[in-house]
Amino acid sequence: MTPADRPALILGARSGIARGIAAALAKRGHPLMLAARRAGELDSDVSDLSIRYNCTVTAHEFDVLDLDGHAGFLDSLPATPSIIICAIGVLGDQERDAGDAQATKLVVDSNYLAPCLFLEQAASRMAQSGGGSIVAIGSVAGDRGRAKNYVYGSAKAGFATYISGLRQKYAGSDLHVMTVKPGFVRTAMTEGMDLPGPLTSDAEPFAERVVSAMEKGRQVYSDLRWRALMAVITHLPERIFMKTKF
Ligand SMILES: NC(=O)c1ccc[n+]([C@@H]2O[C@H](COP(=O)([O-])OP(=O)(O)OC[C@H]3O[C@@H](n4cnc5c(N)ncnc54)[C@H](OP(=O)(O)O)[C@@H]3O)[C@@H](O)[C@H]2O)c1
Repeated sequence: MTPADRPALILGARSGIARGIAAALAKRGHPLMLAARRAGELDSDVSDLSIRYNCTVTAHEFDVLDLDGHAGFLDSLPATPSIIICAIGVLGDQERDAGDAQATKLVVDSNYLAPCLFLEQAASRMAQSGGGSIVAIGSVAGDRGRAKNYVYGSAKAGFATYISGLRQKYAGSDLHVMTVKPGFVRTAMTEGMDLPGPLTSDAEPFAERVVSAMEKGRQVYSDLRWRALMAVITHLPERIFMKTKF
């Protein structure tokens, strides 16, 4: 099968990382289905990608929090996806969200519950129609709870565990499930943050590495420098970790 026979569905298509991944997939010849809230605002992405890479690109209205709409959304697509990129995420505001039921629920539902329910259903359909790859974007924030972002981090931890289970469920089949754990990437999510240069990626090169890891059938992808840093952070004894500002 050529990339032209393997359409990719991009969830959260306006995300900075998703835009980079969309371009990397279009460059390889995959038809794209861009899905996002306010899909009408994707017009310029549709024309830009289709002209630049000479591929078919369509835009689709999608809100992952509309749980009852998941099946209908999948039914409405022009093709069963052969690749799904899930780039949906809500960082929230730790100080505001902690202890606030509605704000916490929004972060948990957006990063964990709703994407998991969607991917469960999509995985089953993909497995029945020849398999493919699911790329689920989590975060290194899920590796250890930190005072700075533990509402978001705990939702991403749940997401990573769910995706790990989904991966094992389909292990040995034609459906490949990959977890991506970005560190810092320059996107709307990190705008205004004081990011440490050596630990921060631009979205396009990061996206290229994600697509390349997917093509190699990797199970978990994280930048080498973040793998090394998180190996240290996750192994620090609690009493030492409590004294740090990571
Ligand atoms: N940038 C980083 O440093 C970093 C680090 C670790 C992990 N990540 C993860 O990487 C992924 C991509 O993030 P990004 O950095 O590219 O940030 P971003 O530009 O803020 O993208 C997040 C996307 O999620 C979409 N979204 C939120 N709620 C949604 C909903 N209910 N239904 C559909 N889409 C929804 C947003 O859509 P709207 O445009 O409609 O708001 C937005 O396009 C996220 O999962 C994020 O948690 C990013």
